[in-house]
Amino acid sequence: MKNLTLLYEGKAKKVYALPCEDQVLVSYKDDATAFNGLKKGTIHQKGIINNAISNHLFQLLEKHDIPTHFIKAESERETIVKKVDIIPLEVIIRNIAAGSFSKRYGIAEGTGLKQPTIEFSYKNDTLGDPLINSSIAVSLSLATSDEIAAVKEYSKKINSVLQTYLASIQIQLIDFKLEFGRFHNTIILADEISPDTCRLWDMTTGDHLDKDRFRRDLGNIEDAYHEVYRRMKL
Ligand code: TMP
Repeated sequence: MKNLTLLYEGKAKKVYALPCEDQVLVSYKDDATAFNGLKKGTIHQKGIINNAISNHLFQLLEKHDIPTHFIKAESERETIVKKVDIIPLEVIIRNIAAGSFSKRYGIAEGTGLKQPTIEFSYKNDTLGDPLINSSIAVSLSLATSDEIAAVKEYSKKINSVLQTYLASIQIQLIDFKLEFGRFHNTIILADEISPDTCRLWDMTTGDHLDKDRFRRDLGNIEDAYHEVYRRMKL
């Protein structure tokens, strides 16, 4: 879409105003960053792939009664979504130890967890998205306790739907990050779910099919994103 007002430009997406006040247009970029923007790069066609993957997964979640911001794909890189007031929490769900969790608790990457964990980071680039808990989030008025209860409930269900679906295409869901927003007094899933925001390991080889290839300079980044896209038959 042309001649729209840019409302916000993030690290991986741009958000434009739409004539309908309740909606915005999200445009996915090929830009990739890591470590709070310290590392920068481009992943060819990432915007197209992440738009398709995220829309596919959001539609799957809608079918399982998870309310999301998804309305409709507008083009290869663009999607019309509900305009939410983002809750400034990054919600991270983990099935297997990896990344910052492995580092923090001294547990080898790939170690199974007795039950999925949920953790919150305060979405604040200046502070480097510090780890936070529900009590602090409520005390700081980032979310109410009812909102946090809804977020936890939805996150648990999202994990089980995604795990089952990804297993059917031979992908192990290690961990992922979600963001939720407020929309007309309800909480809905917002932002994206893509190889940028999940750890996805090939079930047989253990190959990393996600942004860790960029974060850790593992090479074949485009191939990894394409492989996830291909398995989803998008
Ligand atoms: P972590 O192990 O680095 O904390 O990452 C946990 C998950 O969250 C992983 O799937 C990648 C995702 N993630 C984001 O989507 N955005 C971020 O800024 C970070 C740090 C992680």
